Amino acid sequence: MKDNSLNTKIIYHPSDEDIFMAAEVIRNGGLVAFPTETVYGLGASALSSKAAEKIFAAKGRPSDNPLIIHLADPGDATRYAITSPAYDKLSRFMPGPLTVILPKRDIIPSSVTGGLDTVAVRVPSHPIACALIRSAGVPIAAPSANRSGKPSCTTVEHVIQEMDGRVDVILDGGESDVGLESTILLPFGDHSVKLLRPGAITVEMLEAEGFTVILDKAVTERLADGEIPLAPGMKYRHYAPEAQVILLDGDHEAVLSYMQNRGDDCGVALIIYEEDAEKLCGKRLKVIGKRGDSLTYAHRLFAVLRELDADSDVKVIYAPLPAKDNLGLALYNRLMKAAGYSVKTV
Ligand code: TXA
Ligand code: MG
Repeated sequence: MKDNSLNTKIIYHPSDEDIFMAAEVIRNGGLVAFPTETVYGLGASALSSKAAEKIFAAKGRPSDNPLIIHLADPGDATRYAITSPAYDKLSRFMPGPLTVILPKRDIIPSSVTGGLDTVAVRVPSHPIACALIRSAGVPIAAPSANRSGKPSCTTVEHVIQEMDGRVDVILDGGESDVGLESTILLPFGDHSVKLLRPGAITVEMLEAEGFTVILDKAVTERLADGEIPLAPGMKYRHYAPEAQVILLDGDHEAVLSYMQNRGDDCGVALIIYEEDAEKLCGKRLKVIGKRGDSLTYAHRLFAVLRELDADSDVKVIYAPLPAKDNLGLALYNRLMKAAGYSVKTV
């Protein structure tokens, strides 16, 4: 959806000079969409209230939903937040797909944190994100580069669809590696964390480092009206395509047979595993990788939801409900939200 208010510069395969130019745009209070290893971000200087306000306007995002600040080095967090032994220990997962909530310092404007006295800190590993932050010399506040309520963007084409005319620069960095947003943790004590949003740093990985992990209720369950999650963004019906998503819960054979029976119904599309493709031929299919391959499911999920959304004939999307272990928990969380918690037991 092109909005002509800004003349957006789209840069494919950015050079060092291009990144330097984009960093200057950030320093001058402008907006730059950039790649990270999780999803694309919509960045602005985290030290400027005005710049942060532009992010909320470009996304159509409620201003009580706080932004993550992106740093070049885990050690930089002490300038913007009050770190702790738990943070130091968690920083072994950085750079990488992890966000940690810490008490904020005054240098971070409250418009960035949606009025909270905490700030979310992340050190991305994508080389273009790292170079951009280093070159900007300021922390970069960045939500995912989608319009509020839509699936996050995992390709530059999706960013262009959503943000052309709304940002100063869009930097291409290829397909996002992980495909789902970072894991968000709230540390308490030296060895415990509350998991606010699951991602590629999994419960199992955190437990292997000696952390006790407590799942926030909003990770797996629908909150009651008026209940407030610890990560404000988790209350919104996120990741949602226009079509109704229905998750199928059952053993492999039962899911397959349900799909065989319903796959020809008017307006139905199926998200399926590679090995089932020939048993479902003739139906409207999106293959999501092999069964048990959560990495590919995660990498493809948002792109598949967008592709199905672009087809106005699709009214219902059936998808298998993933198991809740390892990266499966993040898939489960995003799919449940996309489906508005609609699960059919088969
Ligand atoms: O992978 C990611 O995290 C991507 C890339 C661009 O880094 N960013 C991202 O940002 O997903 P966003 O804004 O779409 O999601 C951030 C989530 C929201 O649910 C927000 O409410 C929560 O983090 N959050 C931010 N600051 C917080 C804070 N101080 N306390 C609790 N939750 C916070
Ligand atoms: Mg988002």
